[in-house]
Amino acid sequence: MRILRVTAAAAWFAAATLGAVCSAAQAEDAAAGDAAHGKVVFLKEQCFTCHGRSGQGGAYNGPAPILAQTALPLEAFRAQVRNPVNDMPAYSDAVLSDKDIADIYAFVKSLPGSRSPKDIPILNN
Ligand code: HEC
Repeated sequence: MRILRVTAAAAWFAAATLGAVCSAAQAEDAAAGDAAHGKVVFLKEQCFTCHGRSGQGGAYNGPAPILAQTALPLEAFRAQVRNPVNDMPAYSDAVLSDKDIADIYAFVKSLPGSRSPKDIPILNN
């Protein structure tokens, strides 16, 4: 019985800790950046050449993913920019600050992304 109680306490502690970490990450996302400045940096640092001006995605050796409305959390977004998984060039903090990345993140989150054909009137005539 005692072991059960200890295990339950450990599980509660793990859940509480995880909850705190997740809400801290969400708070970081919510507090993230200045979308207007993010747009300036996105254009200046050439992100648009591969990912498109509207974050619609493009190509570079292979597909360059859609960034509009990204589902990535800020932390994963930043990790890709600093240490890309494959062909994308890396941006060190000498080139792009964490603040700039948070601003770009806010910018791509603010982009509308693709719409359903049903929402485009001329396609429904
Ligand atoms: C030369 C082309 C190129 C440029 C410039 C570029 N990217 Fe990428 N990006 C890619 C490619 C290709 C991938 C696919 C993964 C890889 O190759 O690392 C990618 C992946 C990503 C991803 C992961 C998206 C996902 O959903 O998996 C993010 C985030 C990203 N890029 C952000 C940026 C930002 C921000 C900039 C500008 C600071 C930028 N990229 C500049 C080509 C580029």
